[in-house]
Amino acid sequence: MLEISVSLLSAKKEDLIPTLFYNLETAKIDYFHIDVADGKFVEKNNLEVMKECSLTLSHISNVGLDVHLMVENVEEIMDDYIPLEPKIITFHYEAIRDKERMMNIIEDIKDNGIQVGIAISPETKVQEIQEFLPYIHQVLIMTVVPGKGGQKFISEMLEKIKELKQMIFDNNLENLVIEVDGGINHETVKKVKSAGCDRVVSGSYITNSENYAESVKKLKEA
Ligand code: DX5
Ligand code: ZN
Repeated sequence: MLEISVSLLSAKKEDLIPTLFYNLETAKIDYFHIDVADGKFVEKNNLEVMKECSLTLSHISNVGLDVHLMVENVEEIMDDYIPLEPKIITFHYEAIRDKERMMNIIEDIKDNGIQVGIAISPETKVQEIQEFLPYIHQVLIMTVVPGKGGQKFISEMLEKIKELKQMIFDNNLENLVIEVDGGINHETVKKVKSAGCDRVVSGSYITNSENYAESVKKLKEA
């Protein structure tokens, strides 16, 4: 069954309260997907809101945090999240690129007992991150341009998911998780699942729905 990581990016600021968190938790989501935006790597800046929100979640919820850093200065921002003991911290390849810096970040996150992921934006090919795959826990394939919720799924990305799945198989990396983020709904979820995805991020489809439990179930059972 697919795992569901719920993005809070499309929730209104006044909704980011324990009731929303509690309702999502009882809808049996697998992770809270924390989209951190710095106003540089992406236009939006939600550094303060997301820090506050993650701190609250780390106190009141048993659901793991799946932190997605859409930021330029990964080393600085990840230090805000490490003390919260998230399950996963994912950062963008496009923000770093330099091999030594990439490896240092990967090791730092793992040394804190946290899983590490690399995210790739639509324009990046999976071959560009191939050398890092043996050292990480997940690859996050963006199926929209990172930055905001509620965008349309880019279907050309399905080939990229398939390519990564094949790469994982060819290199005996079966524990590596493929997470897909952007434009996921009850229809696109079926496509990404058959392409080989293990975990989907869903924001607006769930947080704009009337019944969270029902929408989560629809995605899980796709
Ligand atoms: C995009 C974010 C996503 C996104 C998901 O920049 O990384 O996590 O907000 O939202 P939906 O599901 O609405 O595309
Ligand atoms: Zn995200």
